[in-house]
Amino acid sequence: MVEDEIMRNVRSEDPLLTEIATYVIGSGGKRMRPGIALLSFRAVGGTDLKKIITVATAFELIHSATLVHDDINDGAETRRGNTAVYRKYGTQRALITGDFLFVKGFRLGGMIQSEEIVEMVADSCSRMAESEILQTRTENDASIPLETYIRIITGKTAKPIEASAQVGAYIGNGSAEQIAGMGTFGLNIGLAFQIVDDILDIGGNEGDLGKGRGMDVLDGKANLPLMIAMQDHYPKSARLREIYSKKDKTLEEVDEALELVLDTDAMDVAMGHAEDLRLKALKGLDVLQETEFKDALRALADTVLARDR
Ligand code: IPE
Ligand code: IPE
Ligand code: MG
Ligand code: MG
Repeated sequence: MVEDEIMRNVRSEDPLLTEIATYVIGSGGKRMRPGIALLSFRAVGGTDLKKIITVATAFELIHSATLVHDDINDGAETRRGNTAVYRKYGTQRALITGDFLFVKGFRLGGMIQSEEIVEMVADSCSRMAESEILQTRTENDASIPLETYIRIITGKTAKPIEASAQVGAYIGNGSAEQIAGMGTFGLNIGLAFQIVDDILDIGGNEGDLGKGRGMDVLDGKANLPLMIAMQDHYPKSARLREIYSKKDKTLEEVDEALELVLDTDAMDVAMGHAEDLRLKALKGLDVLQETEFKDALRALADTVLARDR
């Protein structure tokens, strides 16, 4: 039902705009944000599907909009296994399509006529923008504090996932305690999700990922395993910091940096942090009764850590 609603909402009077919007949304994606919203809704006992389908669709449209813009910002070549939108259709059209998808998503979210929902979604989107700006300010900075990293990933990734979980519980008529518990789940699983994204950027397989590897090194973007391996006590950290700080890196230097990270225990240390966050997320589920939906949320949390795409 979400998939149908998505397809209804990417249609425009302009055939090219429809084509570009369909290109990005139709090339797949894990649909994790709608999945979390739906499970959260069900897990608190929600039954009337109409509103939750609308809002779950809104989350996916907004998310996809941010990916279109993100690839411009990050200079990415591929997304969801295809050429990045701006590479295929040009930056102007990618910007416009991102705005179009964003507005379609926001419109759907607003149709529920709930100030609380508009506020939760708008707040997460503002935080995303603030974090993306903060990230540009720390580009190629090898001494970025862990605290700043956490601030960046909280805004750019965890907040929208927190909002999906909270809004699901809210629409399902969950209690204030349940909405808060689902927020805890979403926020922490969102943080873990981004740490795993960082791990996959260093050591993942491009074919599985459907997007390039080593992008964070190339762009000098904050990435947890990279930051860990740049700490003084690792023997080759000075060379890693030297590469990371360069504005223009060669592909050989990026490969060298990836190898330097993989030669340390930084990937395991980062995965340890993701595991801690998964456990925190699971604590949030204590507010739920035992149902198949709660089991599915637990399984989803496992998948976030075990994923290779
Ligand atoms: C990518 O999100 C952006 C991040 C926050 C890491 P996803 O990995 O959920 O992307 P899709 O929707 O599955 O393509
Ligand atoms: C994506 O962050 C977060 C947003 C879309 C705002 P990244 O830039 O780390 O995600 P990927 O790795 O390109 O998917
Ligand atoms: Mg980015
Ligand atoms: Mg990116």
